[in-house]
Amino acid sequence: MNFYSALSNKISKKTAKIGIVGLGYVGLPLALQFAKKNFKVLGFDIDINKISLLKKNKSYIKHISNKQIKKYKNRIKFEKSFEKIIFADVIILCLPTPITDKLKPDLSYIKKTLENIKDLLSEGQIIILESSTYPGSTRDFISPYLKSFVIGKNFFLGYSPEREDPNNKKYSLETIPKICSGFTNNCLNITKNLYSKIIKKVVAVSNLETAEFVKLYENIYRSVNIGLVNEMKMIANKLDLNIYEIIKAAKTKPFGFQAFYPGPGVGGHCIPVDPYYLSWIANKNNIKTNLIYHAGRINSFMPNWIISETLKKKKIKKVLIIGVAYKKDLDDTRESPSIDFIKILNKKKISVDIHDPNVKILKSRKLKINYISKKLNSKMLKKYDCIIISTDHSNIDYSLIKKNAKLIVDTRDKFDRKSNKILKL
Ligand SMILES: NC(=O)c1ccc[n+]([C@@H]2O[C@H](COP(=O)([O-])OP(=O)(O)OC[C@H]3O[C@@H](n4cnc5c(N)ncnc54)[C@H](O)[C@@H]3O)[C@@H](O)[C@H]2O)c1
Repeated sequence: MNFYSALSNKISKKTAKIGIVGLGYVGLPLALQFAKKNFKVLGFDIDINKISLLKKNKSYIKHISNKQIKKYKNRIKFEKSFEKIIFADVIILCLPTPITDKLKPDLSYIKKTLENIKDLLSEGQIIILESSTYPGSTRDFISPYLKSFVIGKNFFLGYSPEREDPNNKKYSLETIPKICSGFTNNCLNITKNLYSKIIKKVVAVSNLETAEFVKLYENIYRSVNIGLVNEMKMIANKLDLNIYEIIKAAKTKPFGFQAFYPGPGVGGHCIPVDPYYLSWIANKNNIKTNLIYHAGRINSFMPNWIISETLKKKKIKKVLIIGVAYKKDLDDTRESPSIDFIKILNKKKISVDIHDPNVKILKSRKLKINYISKKLNSKMLKKYDCIIISTDHSNIDYSLIKKNAKLIVDTRDKFDRKSNKILKL
């Protein structure tokens, strides 16, 4: 049997069954996109709460509506156990790739899944990894689980990094070009064929490692440029200059400059994490990542700098943090700089409350207690010595804050400088 032609045909006719493993910020939108384009999808997740919510047509991600899940219900089946993976022609892994406490790549989620599914795999399937990881992972980490197959002949392996920017109104999964790579040429062709059915443009690269490197480069490019503008902000602040005016003027240059904006640091699953993946593989190859390392240090120093600058201006005992998600209009709090603000303030014995319309309870293994989002009103706002705008969600009443706050520390350029109760940091 020619497994390559068989799988290619199934994909071309959209009769290939798509198995998505990990239904988080990456996997769930991807499952919906395949269903939207008329593929039958099997969605797997070890989190039974997520599976039971999905079975009731309920979303647990703010920018995905219950309606969207209901709409494709007849094409997606959600599963908590892996047995049904035998029915999938395509298996896409959208699993977490965090860092360990020692700042090393943690591929344990991928390992656990491969251990679970290895005996259920059969000829003619393809596994594609979408998680961000260091160059060499797909080849060195996944292919050993496929020893009983001839990769490229009777089993296929690809890597295609996810580039999603959750809640981006301009670019969606369908319009962001997709990088594709394969273990062999056949693997690459199947990967390209598959994604071209759901995404407008696919970009093939010559091997798995290049595709893995591309993803890290893109995120590290952001980390380094955010580090640069955060350093610029600290210098401008000392010289009593407005960094936002400087950026606005600099970006009138029609070439060679792209604007990045300062803030309280970086958060999320990618930008604070990916530099460590690249540094790890660089160190293994005896290369030191100086620029990347220092950009990360500057970004993670920002909450400390902001608090120490604030304390130079005013003694504070009680703080309200506005926005604890790592990014505007999201509900994702992973690696959020707001968590660092809380830790720093706790250490200084300054009491902290939070307000985030998208996050009811802030839980983090870095914090001793959970924080419940407080309701905003003029009376409560007056109780705080200082209000830190950490994430500038759209659905926040900024005029109410401005009217009632004693001091606003604005890390997101939400207010103009004119009022002396606004500290732009
Ligand atoms: N979130 C983003 O915007 C984004 C963008 C680009 C790339 N990425 C990358 O994509 C990958 C996934 O990120 P995410 O944000 O979707 O993570 P996530 O934590 O939101 O989702 C991962 C899902 O996998 C599930 N899971 C964990 N172990 C499992 C297992 N053994 N079997 C089945 N399911 C399991 C979890 O329950 C969770 O639902 C990461 O490598 C991340 O760096 C994320």
